[in-house]
Amino acid sequence: MAASTNIVWHESEVTKENRQQQKGHKSAILWFTGLSGSGKSTISVALETALYTQGFHTYRLDGDNVRHGLNNNLGFSPEDRTENIRRIGEVSKLMVDAGLFTLTAFISPYRDDREQVRQLVEADEFIEIYVQASLEICEQRDTKGLYKKARLGEIKGFTGIDAPYEEPTHAEIVIDSHQLSVEESVEAIITYLKDNDYI
Ligand code: ADX
Repeated sequence: MAASTNIVWHESEVTKENRQQQKGHKSAILWFTGLSGSGKSTISVALETALYTQGFHTYRLDGDNVRHGLNNNLGFSPEDRTENIRRIGEVSKLMVDAGLFTLTAFISPYRDDREQVRQLVEADEFIEIYVQASLEICEQRDTKGLYKKARLGEIKGFTGIDAPYEEPTHAEIVIDSHQLSVEESVEAIITYLKDNDYI
């Protein structure tokens, strides 16, 4: 799989632990997954603001944004989605090494792809957050008008319509976005971070 050979890892003198100590908190990936329109981006934006305001160091990666740059050569075939998630996983791992809470908002529909990212980092550095909302609700919201297009056959392979979404089986946090407001969702995640000594 790897195309490069004859490459040797070069260690830094400043370690992840040094960087975490300097910042005064742990670092981890907060991996949001869920259908398009479930609320991943909205909740992750609000969470980042809340963490930032409390003095924590963060960075946010979002599907629609990353696909404008780093991943603008990828589409929505199963292979491209897997590559999308692999790259985001690797970038997130670097950001965790840099000492940041890394918030990612990608549909990431395949369980195996999410599991691969989990394996990239230490056990407590991957927090899977399943933003749960039924297809009906997401389709009703249809903030980007994409479900309508998918139903009309103008978009092929749309997650939830004619492409799969594999629900997490052991997410650290499940947010029922029908029941909870954005503020309550943020509060639930912050409580998890406190209860588990991340912050
Ligand atoms: S993922 O499946 O590879 O994780 P990602 O989160 O990066 O997807 O991008 C999803 C966003 O791309 C959606 O929110 C939507 O705006 C847009 N999109 C365009 N085409 C599709 C499609 N076929 N399936 C899902 N989302 C799509």
